Amino acid sequence: MSEFRFEAFTLPHSDEIDREEDLTEEAMAVLDLVRQIRMTPKDKELSAIDALVGFDDRICLVARDDEGAICAAANLHPEPADDHMWVTQLAVDPDYRGQGISHEFVEHIVGMTRRAGLSKIKSRAASTAIRAHYAWGFQEDDNQSTTATPVMYRYV
Ligand SMILES: CC(C)(COP(=O)(O)OP(=O)(O)OC[C@H]1O[C@@H](n2cnc3c(N)ncnc32)[C@H](O)[C@@H]1OP(=O)(O)O)[C@@H](O)C(=O)NCCC(=O)NCCS
Repeated sequence: MSEFRFEAFTLPHSDEIDREEDLTEEAMAVLDLVRQIRMTPKDKELSAIDALVGFDDRICLVARDDEGAICAAANLHPEPADDHMWVTQLAVDPDYRGQGISHEFVEHIVGMTRRAGLSKIKSRAASTAIRAHYAWGFQEDDNQSTTATPVMYRYV
């Protein structure tokens, strides 16, 4: 039995928020996780509000530990026309890394994707997360615009 609980998390739409101070502590915790993902120099400067834009009209999924603290987050975007679920911004809190939580998280997303009637999950892997993607059962897409952050997929 997993010690982590996975659930949808409601973030406000970026249009509803002008200042970081208006975000709840939990919403900030989710956005802090996402802002750890370093893909381009521009991403490093992402404000919480900019990070919030990335979640607009998408599904935010979080993992909570047995005390209810948010320890991982991901952003899901179903693309039914192309039969896949995009997974972006999957990030585990540094205090919880190396315990297999990302494996559990990906399996949870796999279940959600199946239930949505889609056949693949896709993700653009940060260069530091390519090894993790292989460990999660992803493979690299044949048509890549860049090999530094390849698009990777897994059938569900
Ligand atoms: C990538 C990340 C999500 C992995 O989360 P995690 O919960 O620590 O990973 P797990 O313990 O479930 O391990 C999953 C795999 O990741 C890899 N991995 C985990 N820690 C690693 C480390 N310190 N160095 C290199 N690879 C590592 C391993 O290949 C591992 O596979 P294995 O268990 O079969 O050996 C986490 O490091 C993270 O949040 N990184 C920053 C955000 C990010 O880059 N996200 C990906 C965006 S595309």
